Amino acid sequence: MMEKNAKIYVAGHRGMVGSAIVRELERQGYTNIITRTHKELDLCRQDQVEKFFAEEKPEYVFLAAAKVGGIVANSEALADFMYDNMILEMNVINSAWKNGCKKLEFLGSSCIYPRMAPQPMPESCLLTSELEKTNEAYALAKISGLKYCEFLNKQYGTDYISVMPTNLYGPNDNYHPEHSHVLPALIRRFHEAKESGAKSVTCWGDGSPLREFLYVDDLANLCVFLMNNYSGNETVNAGTGKELTIKELTEMVAKVVGYEGEILWDTSRPNGTPRKLLDVSKAAKLGWTYKTELEDGIRLAYKDFLENPMRAER
Ligand SMILES: NC(=O)c1ccc[n+]([C@@H]2O[C@H](COP(=O)([O-])OP(=O)(O)OC[C@H]3O[C@@H](n4cnc5c(N)ncnc54)[C@H](OP(=O)(O)O)[C@@H]3O)[C@@H](O)[C@H]2O)c1
Repeated sequence: MMEKNAKIYVAGHRGMVGSAIVRELERQGYTNIITRTHKELDLCRQDQVEKFFAEEKPEYVFLAAAKVGGIVANSEALADFMYDNMILEMNVINSAWKNGCKKLEFLGSSCIYPRMAPQPMPESCLLTSELEKTNEAYALAKISGLKYCEFLNKQYGTDYISVMPTNLYGPNDNYHPEHSHVLPALIRRFHEAKESGAKSVTCWGDGSPLREFLYVDDLANLCVFLMNNYSGNETVNAGTGKELTIKELTEMVAKVVGYEGEILWDTSRPNGTPRKLLDVSKAAKLGWTYKTELEDGIRLAYKDFLENPMRAER
């Protein structure tokens, strides 16, 4: 259990996940949270990271910093995604360990699982067959981070864990027109269509793929829960265990945003994987479950989008 005054470093605290972890820690009464902006500390620079850890010696680390992007960004910059993420993770995890960090939690992503994984995907399907090519670089970097935690545990007896979330959304999301994930991209498109009075919005594919979404504050709650209640080499999936079609999602976003025009489907565009659902029974057995239903979460995310137009531009 983390003491309420334990020194906790949240890496990536300005990002969607990192900021949610800071909110959750503060909500639970943790008083000694340390952070650094990207400008103050470039986690890809080994010298800077080593100096920071040697000076601060945090007792606990949540590693939520990463070079993150949607499918377009990922597939166009495979080399950059691999290099930045691999270097960043190795720097932070290694420096944490060298400086006596008691427990570290590494944030990955469900894209670490094989392209043809059984659905829903259990933690045990890791490295059982080939990865999806479009985000292979990112996935390999994340698998390396997870494995590095496992190997430190095995070789040096540390207590480093990892968590693999499904698609996330919520406050501080990235709404960039080309570099965002599906749900924030839809929020932005329907908002802009409503503002401009567009008669229709055209979406990619036929709307049939099934996807799962977790509100980021629920993930943050799980992250703190795992830091306090879980030890083990195998990762823990973070999701709702519930799925819906992209068509249903699109209609839900349009409803929340208040867009009343037509939704068209461009079937010449790719659909992506037909189904992507996490098996969340492990987190459930540990005693955790999500709280925010999707429509309520989209409402909260849209409110944040409207209240923070500058951030929505990033
Ligand atoms: N978003 C999702 O749907 C999703 C789903 C599953 C898993 N995850 C995982 O959650 C983690 C965080 O994702 P997120 O959505 O919160 O991403 P995000 O909003 O882009 O936040 C990432 C943060 O990391 C910082 N960062 C990146 N490179 C850095 C560097 N070299 N030095 C210092 N800081 C650096 C970024 O700062 P700058 O912006 O200043 O670069 C940003 O504040 C990732 O591991 C990701 O795989 C996310």
